[in-house]
Amino acid sequence: MSVNKEVKRITTHILQEMKNRGEKIAMLTAYDYSMAAIVDNAGMDIILVGDSASNVMAGHETTLPITLDQMIYHASSVVRAAKRALVIVDLPFGSYQGNSKEALSSAIRIMKESGAHGVKMEGGVEIAESISRILTAGIPVMGHLGLTPQSIYKFGTYTVRAKEEAEAVKLKEDSLKLQELGCFGVVLEKIPAKLAKEVSESLSIPTIGIGAGQHCDGQVLVIHDMLGINKGFKPRFLRQYSNLYDIMNDAIVNYVDDVKAKSFPNDKEGY
Ligand code: KIV
Repeated sequence: MSVNKEVKRITTHILQEMKNRGEKIAMLTAYDYSMAAIVDNAGMDIILVGDSASNVMAGHETTLPITLDQMIYHASSVVRAAKRALVIVDLPFGSYQGNSKEALSSAIRIMKESGAHGVKMEGGVEIAESISRILTAGIPVMGHLGLTPQSIYKFGTYTVRAKEEAEAVKLKEDSLKLQELGCFGVVLEKIPAKLAKEVSESLSIPTIGIGAGQHCDGQVLVIHDMLGINKGFKPRFLRQYSNLYDIMNDAIVNYVDDVKAKSFPNDKEGY
């Protein structure tokens, strides 16, 4: 399907219209200027500056260590590249869980210092006050339910969430709460497809799935995963669209060989 590149800037209102008319929403992460320029030019609706930067950019095991300053650095690079996509930034672990005043000041810093268009926060009813305060300041908020990686030490594993009835019921209540508060959308990560379908149908705001089946209103992936840069990371939900690890590795090995063999640079590749 062709993408309408005539649209000046995707807004939360356009995303809502997309859900209303059944048009799927495409979302992908990016963390730097060059990648974000490619992603934006490809017709992405939402670029997520995810705290997965902690894993794929900084090499941490979890998303917990990344700081607000580091998120702002990544986000401002992405914002400079994004001409069409809506840019949403994760509030990192520790920047909003303390109290709603701190949450608001973190969100304001992201908006002011990076120029992004909204924030994403993990959690449901327990962070309602913070979400509400941020929304009152006019900052669009996207929720994130299901597998919420900032709580990995509570879960103990990255396995599918909400398979049990009690957790599924809480997730449904949380999703309704996020909508009632005024969130413009909700990411549903690694939950059963049947539950994601039920939530997507019960909400009027868009749901964006990752490992949540085909019935969400949109999909999101981590760019390093779908481009095959993370060799060996192949969860069932991931569709790998390229094999950049091998492509880049071949190019770099060729470069090393050429330098060692004194064939680069040749007499035309200089001044
Ligand atoms: O940080 C991230 O990349 C995310 C997506 C996996 C949804 O939150």
